[in-house]
Amino acid sequence: MPPTIALRDLSQHEGQEVRVRGWLYNRRSSGKLEFLILRDGTGYVQAVAFKKELPEEVFESCRRLTQESSVIVSGSVRRDDRSPWGYEIGLSDLEILHIADEYPIGPKEHGVAFLMDHRHLWLRSSMQHAVLRVRSEASLACREFLHSEGFTCVDSPILTPTSCEGTSTLFETDYFGQKAFLSQSGQLYQEATCLAFGRSYCFGPTFRAEKSKTRRHLAEFWMLEPEMAYAGLDDAIDLAERLCCAVIERVLDRNRQDFKRLERDTSLLEGVRAPFPRLTYDEALSRLRERDVEVKWGEDFGGDEETVLASLENHPIVVHRYPTSIKPFYMQPDPEDPRLALNFDVIAPEGYGEIVGGSQRIHEEPLLRERMKSHGLDESVFRWYLELRRYGTVPHAGFGLGIERLVGWFTGVPHLRETIPFPRTLNRLYP
Ligand code: 4AD
Ligand code: MG
Repeated sequence: MPPTIALRDLSQHEGQEVRVRGWLYNRRSSGKLEFLILRDGTGYVQAVAFKKELPEEVFESCRRLTQESSVIVSGSVRRDDRSPWGYEIGLSDLEILHIADEYPIGPKEHGVAFLMDHRHLWLRSSMQHAVLRVRSEASLACREFLHSEGFTCVDSPILTPTSCEGTSTLFETDYFGQKAFLSQSGQLYQEATCLAFGRSYCFGPTFRAEKSKTRRHLAEFWMLEPEMAYAGLDDAIDLAERLCCAVIERVLDRNRQDFKRLERDTSLLEGVRAPFPRLTYDEALSRLRERDVEVKWGEDFGGDEETVLASLENHPIVVHRYPTSIKPFYMQPDPEDPRLALNFDVIAPEGYGEIVGGSQRIHEEPLLRERMKSHGLDESVFRWYLELRRYGTVPHAGFGLGIERLVGWFTGVPHLRETIPFPRTLNRLYP
């Protein structure tokens, strides 16, 4: 029996007999020839069945195949410069595992609701597939970059007794009779683990009961959260910029085919360099005012303001030192102006908005206590968090990077729901 190969390795088998296990993506007939486009999850190839060269039952089997039927094809690999995949397979045998029912997703246009209801199948489409391959590579690149910078992966819990990012977007659940929440961010736990490991990170799902229906908000999304002991705001900004550059370099190298499939113009990505243009919140306000966008001091930016700011540079930008009044309780105030927090956002160009949010954290207990009080937080559930300030407390800083926002920007898809395998949004918990 010929060796079973993955289609991504086709080029290594030119001139050889191989077996490919996959699914029928498409089929064309021209009397004496059947052209079967196969996909196996790693690539695509056209297998050509020539009536004259095959036993009748094999050729007839080819003709029975419906879209997404599962098949094992045997044949010889030959170069074909006209093919988008560079090779084709001269089919010599076909084994059918299952003839698929009429496939609901065809080449005709479907509405988004229909496609999302069929997300379990839509994932097989080449564009969705390409987006999720970029996601996979970006996730791996994030981890590898942090490990190369001396970080240890120390995962934060998902079920928590507290909020991190404010109480208005908490998913509440019953924890054996006690109230618990799905984590909005692993940060508070990373503040503990960075004091144990020096540099730590978590990377996992986080949850926000966002009542907004924007293209940039999911109710469940994945966040990469590095945290560093003996570090301040500038260290966190510097790390975030270099992380973005490392991940961009990696996907541009490894996902060339996927960007091509997505018809994504990667010229802006190719031009991204650290350090990014940096603006204070106050400078950002003046820039917006010059463009006739009025934001009052003390108001947060929305998606529209972010889009204007980043499009001025056509490059990701850093905005730092937002007013403390619009930010969570844990941010260290700026010693030069305590109305401001030592925090920052990285804002992507092309309308993808905030991809990173981070800050230096309050490391002194009295101030932290005071902030928790003014935010109406119950100290008793944060006892452990306050205790961290009593045993070798040090300045520390970190950030959260939303992987879907990053992948959305990389791939240019219009809505974040296409950057996660099974999106959870205000109106969707199925499939
Ligand atoms: O700015 P956020 O809310 O920051 C935090 O949660 C910090 N505790 C992180 C930290 O410092 N360790 O969220 C961080 C990032 C945002 O910049 C964005 O990329 C992403 O998480 N994000 C979302 N992505 C998709 N859907 C949502 N609803 C998101 N909310 C935040
Ligand atoms: Mg934020």
